Amino acid sequence: MFEIPGFSLPISFPDRRESKRRITLALLDQDGDIAKELLAGWSHATDAAYSPASRCARALLRHMLEREIETSRQRAISRDASGRPVLEARAGEILPIISISHAGRFIAAAYGFVARLGLDLESSAKTRDLQGIAELAFGPAERRQVEQHGPDAFYRIWTGREALAKATGRAFAQVMDRRDYISEALSEGVAQLYLDGEAWSLAHARPLEHLFLAVAWQD
Ligand SMILES: CC(C)(COP(=O)(O)OP(=O)(O)OC[C@H]1O[C@@H](n2cnc3c(N)ncnc32)[C@H](O)[C@@H]1OP(=O)(O)O)[C@@H](O)C(=O)NCCC(=O)NCCS
Repeated sequence: MFEIPGFSLPISFPDRRESKRRITLALLDQDGDIAKELLAGWSHATDAAYSPASRCARALLRHMLEREIETSRQRAISRDASGRPVLEARAGEILPIISISHAGRFIAAAYGFVARLGLDLESSAKTRDLQGIAELAFGPAERRQVEQHGPDAFYRIWTGREALAKATGRAFAQVMDRRDYISEALSEGVAQLYLDGEAWSLAHARPLEHLFLAVAWQD
């Protein structure tokens, strides 16, 4: 048996020992030995339809979910019409929300027994036109943060926007809507946001120098 090299976000719920109150997250190098073991033991016939990164993320999720739901190994993880990953349900079950992201060699997967959840992982690239993307996609306060604080602010806002967009299911349309979602400078850790009168939590982490990760959820 192997250990997944996950890492914990500083998310503090009242009782972290209670699995129903946790968000569980793992990050994996899809070219590494653990990924190969996962693919050997936790793949499902329906994964054949997906890319190597998507197959690896699905195997990782099944392994992560083993302690939460019965027969996680035998569950298909499909996509709904919007692209959102959906875990195969048995009658009457309460299932966690799942989310997936890929960036270069890395994949990240998360689940939580929460109302909504979205995860995004992004690898920084020196050649990307950050100001140009911010002009196209971000809101005015977010663009100012990128002007003032450079790439770190850009990647925190980018991953935060994508995590929120995956959590709402509006995906690309929301990511590119030029509205401010993250108006204040963010560092690692959990922030509270209010969007259209709804409270959201948004956690950021930087597991490697070039990797930025955000998780957005609603309890
Ligand atoms: C889904 C989306 C939000 C993120 O895509 P991405 O960052 O390119 O890709 P990621 O690897 O992070 O995420 C892919 C996963 O998102 C999930 N996903 C796709 N559509 C989704 C939706 N509507 N809701 C929730 N999750 C979704 C899927 O699980 C997918 O994994 P899979 O292919 O293994 O099933 C995409 O629609 C998008 O908007 N991309 C825009 C990228 C961009 O140009 N950003 C620049 C401006 S900030």
